Amino acid sequence: MKYFLQIYGCQMNYSDAQRVSTVLEQMGYERSNDENEADLAVFVACAVRESAVSRLYGNGKKFKRIRRQRPHFKAVLTGCVVKKDRPKLEKLFDVIIDIKHIGELPQKLALPDAPASGADYFHIKAKREHPFTAYVPIMTGCNNYCSYCIVPYTRGPEYSRPAADILAEIGALVTSGCREIILLGQNVNSYRPADGTDFPALLEQVSALEGDFWIRFLTSHPKDMSEQLIRTVADTPKCTNFIHLAMQSGNDEVLRKMNRRYTSAHFLDLVEMIRARIPEVMLTTDIIVGFPGETEAQFQDTAALMEAARFDIAYINKYSPRSGTASAALPDDVSFAEKKRREKALNAVLRETARANNEKYLGREVEVLLESENRDYYFGKTRSFKDIKLAKDQPVAIGAFTRARVTKVTPWALEGTLCHPESSEGSL
Ligand code: SAH
Ligand code: SF4
Ligand code: F3S
Repeated sequence: MKYFLQIYGCQMNYSDAQRVSTVLEQMGYERSNDENEADLAVFVACAVRESAVSRLYGNGKKFKRIRRQRPHFKAVLTGCVVKKDRPKLEKLFDVIIDIKHIGELPQKLALPDAPASGADYFHIKAKREHPFTAYVPIMTGCNNYCSYCIVPYTRGPEYSRPAADILAEIGALVTSGCREIILLGQNVNSYRPADGTDFPALLEQVSALEGDFWIRFLTSHPKDMSEQLIRTVADTPKCTNFIHLAMQSGNDEVLRKMNRRYTSAHFLDLVEMIRARIPEVMLTTDIIVGFPGETEAQFQDTAALMEAARFDIAYINKYSPRSGTASAALPDDVSFAEKKRREKALNAVLRETARANNEKYLGREVEVLLESENRDYYFGKTRSFKDIKLAKDQPVAIGAFTRARVTKVTPWALEGTLCHPESSEGSL
């Protein structure tokens, strides 16, 4: 029996999909990349844009055709699904199951109406797909209700996993060879389980685990980014110099309408504090262009704040109204062409700041985790999360931490040569 897995959305969904794989493989299914030979197709959906949901409807015809050929074929929908979209989706999918109840998929497949009991689905071990990197969810859900965003309605209120569970999971991952742990949550810095741990304390506890590995985390909300957290990242040996801090807009009026609960000045203060305390930090962000009522001048404030913040990567999103959210009631009055123009303009700002940031690496020595190779090159990531390509002039094991000197840069990647062990100085 074979299953096909289609994953949309953010890292949280990719991590959840690995738990879906575990459940299915325990049932005896084997993964296939070809939907046409699968007995079961599982869709891990994203609901952040209306268009992502329409894409699901597009599968109707295909499922019908497959069912004609293989009557036992079943289509399952999980991930982020909004209640309002369910009736229409129920016509397409045999089973719709809340990701939190994924452990009960076997019962649901036998009896689609079986009630769910509500177990903590994080106890299901994620299937490892990458030998050196693992996503570890530490919290899920969101209480922030940004006016444009559907996530609080799909993921529900914030839930933080007990620190002991997270530490046990990471301990096992590191023992089995994992070198990079990426802690996940819609808002990791509001991590607050019932055991009283907070996010800086969790970082310290993870770092204290034995083994040689890097820690990263995604994503941080500016309103909860404390000086203490920045100091902890700077002072905790295994924490890497990488921060994702979603800016969304550089205009205070727009930020207020988005219900973001910070100002552009506060955002810039945070960026400056991060840069002052965490050397050579890689900074990434999310931006929305064309929010209802966004004027040219307000858009220019976003461009100016982006320039000042000097991001390495920015995910620039064109605003799209999502029914069920507060801002969907506002007129979507920035035209699509204008949103595209603004997106392009911000990408141009980004290209320049990213290039300038990378030029600072030229001639410098960096720490690298080697992830793969071809005949001529090794491919890896720097401690700060930059992709780097290294000429293969000496044998090094994949999965090893090594040092390299940067010889060439583009806005999006670095190139370099492996350092000889005796030549380490002036490193990042
Ligand atoms: N919790 C994360 C964001 C998760 S959603 C955070 O606050 O950082 C990922 C991104 O999708 C958001 O940062 C936002 O930029 C974008 N997004 C969400 N809803 C959107 C909408 N209605 N239109 C356009 N972009 C949207
Ligand atoms: Fe959405 Fe805002 Fe929550 Fe992020 S913080 S998931 S943008 S509501
Ligand atoms: Fe999409 Fe859900 Fe992530 S709505 S962005 S997959 S939390």
